[in-house]
Amino acid sequence: MRQSFWEQFCLALTLLPLHLGSAVTGDPSHSCYGAPGLPGTPGVPGKDGRDGLKGAKGEPGIPAIPATRGPKGMKGEPGSPGLPGKTGPVGPPGPPGDPGEMGTAGEPGMPGSYKQKHQSAFSVTRQTAEHPLKNIPVVFNHIITNTNNDYNTTTGKFTCKVPGLYYFVFHSSQTANLCVMLYKNMRKMASFCDHKTNTMQVSSGGILLHLEAGNEVWLEVNDYNGMVGIGGSDSIFSGFLLFPE
Ligand SMILES: *[C@@H]1O[C@H](CO)[C@@H](O)[C@H](O)[C@H]1NC(C)=O
Repeated sequence: MRQSFWEQFCLALTLLPLHLGSAVTGDPSHSCYGAPGLPGTPGVPGKDGRDGLKGAKGEPGIPAIPATRGPKGMKGEPGSPGLPGKTGPVGPPGPPGDPGEMGTAGEPGMPGSYKQKHQSAFSVTRQTAEHPLKNIPVVFNHIITNTNNDYNTTTGKFTCKVPGLYYFVFHSSQTANLCVMLYKNMRKMASFCDHKTNTMQVSSGGILLHLEAGNEVWLEVNDYNGMVGIGGSDSIFSGFLLFPE
């Protein structure tokens, strides 16, 4: 295929990466029109214009309504803790506590004086074959037992030192009729009489008496006074504290 110089030239022009397609399609002949020049580069921006005139004053704004509040603000951060308050008043006392544990046993105490203070007992005999005098205390002159010397072998009387309940008893041998009377402070408290029916016989009696300190107790005989105290046949008078009071 043969092509003219212009055809090849125009074809080369069309192959340029330029927008010249319209230029080569104007005339189907083999002629090639001159292409327009390329656009020039943009010019440099012009200088700023002068300031315009001052604008007219605007309309007054709508007056604000007094006492109006704006919208509620955001919640603020918590403040720092305050100082501790004053000490409060003393409360009422609490209930009693539980009992404590039992303590250890203490030292043994001093010896008691029970023996000296609460003891009284005597047994005395009348050792003579003579009959006692009537209407006076019968004297028992021989001591078998006489705690604290409560029985006086000179007067024949028992004198109470420890108040309480006492028991008195006598056991008398007799060789004649015998009446034994027990006295407490001049008052006859009991009387025991036995007529003699044998060569030697015994008579006895006992009594419980409440005594105060200082009270006296003794035995008497009357016209029947056959009391003796001989070998093998004693006459004995006894008394003792049963309960202190
Ligand atoms: C017995 O009584 C007599 C006469 O009251 C008195 O002198 C004597 O001291 C008494 N005896 C005793 C041991 O108390």
